[in-house]
Amino acid sequence: MVKEIEVNQYPREFDTTLTRTINECERLWNKQPPFPGTFDKLVSAQVEKTIGSQRDKVVVVDLGSGDGTLFYDAINDQVSGSEMTRTRELLSQNPNMKVRMVGLDDAPSEEVFLKGISIQDYDGCHTFSQVTAENVYYSLTRNQTLGKFLESLKIPKVDLILGTSFFQSLEPVLFEQVLRDAVKALRSGGVLYGQGIALDDIVPMPPELTNLMRKLLIYPNPQDRAKADRALKWSLNPTNIRKVKQEKAEAVKRVRQSMPQADITFINDKLLVKKK
Ligand SMILES: C[S@@+](CC[C@H](N)C(=O)[O-])C[C@H]1O[C@@H](n2cnc3c(N)ncnc32)[C@H](O)[C@@H]1O
Repeated sequence: MVKEIEVNQYPREFDTTLTRTINECERLWNKQPPFPGTFDKLVSAQVEKTIGSQRDKVVVVDLGSGDGTLFYDAINDQVSGSEMTRTRELLSQNPNMKVRMVGLDDAPSEEVFLKGISIQDYDGCHTFSQVTAENVYYSLTRNQTLGKFLESLKIPKVDLILGTSFFQSLEPVLFEQVLRDAVKALRSGGVLYGQGIALDDIVPMPPELTNLMRKLLIYPNPQDRAKADRALKWSLNPTNIRKVKQEKAEAVKRVRQSMPQADITFINDKLLVKKK
């Protein structure tokens, strides 16, 4: 039996925010500890680590990358405040060094599943020649793991993994699975920074409920509306919010205990993982 491809896991209809710019991401990341710094700082630290090793490539993965704006801004000369000065300096001193940036975002349809959009070919991006950036459509589910995604893209190890307002969309079991796969994929000295794990105002709904919500928007009939109302009530109920938060905190604890090779900080809804 051919396994069905799962797409469209994220109810975009409810997301009123557009994909954040690099400046917006950095502001959000650095509002509270553990202050990861700028994107330039995070990337250049990995480039620095790689210089002098046998390797000449740094891999950066952005989970829940939306339209890929973070990468677009980073490699676009015309976006102010995102000059990536240190990364550019290191790359110009090391002409063989390459940076591969890969965004992962929910596939809206089967046709685009595992297909990528090249970001470096956009206008204004051509001068950052040692960097490639792409956005790939892939919906993470309990079956479609991050491990399988990386395998399909022939990425055995990742140096830097980011997730901005991403992890809160995942129900606790999937959250733990993605976190485990991410930590496993990190190279020694690699870093994962995740902002927004279980926000107060957004709680991941069980998949069957998000599907109901979506249906309601497409076929608004009274029966679906009643179901969707129940789903919405579930997701806004403080007891459920507390439960999801607690389950995620426990998931982080389990990952910490079973993966001692990772140094995991989890404060203020933010995750910072350093692979030893
Ligand atoms: C709130 S948006 C954040 C977008 C961007 N990182 C930002 O900060 O503006 C969450 C993103 O995660 C993606 N996402 C949510 N659940 C996902 C899943 N199961 N698999 C893949 N992507 C997912 C959504 O498609 C969406 O683009």
